[in-house]
Amino acid sequence: MLNDWDSKTYSTLELPHLNWGKKAIGHLDLAGNETIADLGAGTGRDSFALAKLLPKGKVIMVERSRAMLATLREQLKDHPGTFEVIEADLLSPFGLPNSCDGAISVAAFHWIHDHLTLFKNIAAILKDDCPLVADCGGETNIAQVIACYEEVSKTSADAKEIWNFSSVADAKENLQAAGLSPESVVLEEDPLYLKNKDELETFLRTIVLKDQIAKYESIDQKKIIQEVAEKLPNKSIDYVRLKIIAKKLGS
Ligand SMILES: C[S@@+](CC[C@H](N)C(=O)[O-])C[C@H]1O[C@@H](n2cnc3c(N)ncnc32)[C@H](O)[C@@H]1O
Repeated sequence: MLNDWDSKTYSTLELPHLNWGKKAIGHLDLAGNETIADLGAGTGRDSFALAKLLPKGKVIMVERSRAMLATLREQLKDHPGTFEVIEADLLSPFGLPNSCDGAISVAAFHWIHDHLTLFKNIAAILKDDCPLVADCGGETNIAQVIACYEEVSKTSADAKEIWNFSSVADAKENLQAAGLSPESVVLEEDPLYLKNKDELETFLRTIVLKDQIAKYESIDQKKIIQEVAEKLPNKSIDYVRLKIIAKKLGS
């Protein structure tokens, strides 16, 4: 089981996720009355942005992390819109059969190993011909960070156990097998340059290496993060995103 998120720190970070979310939402052709699911909604940033475009619609936020859900629920009261929060693992059917006009997901799918089951569960909530637009880490994502961590810690980063950085071919095959037609599935290099060393360290600790460092005492965690940050060229994280646009096949 992965460690839970430091959702308070997460929600204060200047994240590239914001941009990934904006791009995903931009691919939805919205009239304003749709029901859209945000899968792995985290603290709800994209859901809140989506709600502004859905004055007569609804956002369904699906999330399994207790910590993320607590922060999301705290922030709900500050955002106008119609929301439904579902505490669920995306790997189990989460209800809502054929009820959504679209689904987005930002930076969540690479935390899930079984993409075929994931995509089948998503196909089940979508109405016919409705879109799934997703962003997640793809093949070769953060290879440099992983290599630096392994060099510094002299241990494996257990990358394959922790993440599923899918290739385009695997994603297409899984989408098709789940009844989703892949309209566009591409890998995009999107390196993130942090402003300073403090920001890079917070980013590594809170997001990228959170599961690797959990096994260490806090003094060692700090040292490892500092050394990895020192080694990374240009204070950068070598993100490679898998961008998915797919449509539920009509029955
Ligand atoms: C990096 S965060 C992204 C959160 C949000 N989408 C954003 O862009 O800020 C990944 C999120 O996916 C959620 N997640 C990962 N695996 C999940 C699963 N199997 N079921 C539900 N949520 C999951 C995590 O709990 C976490 O909140």
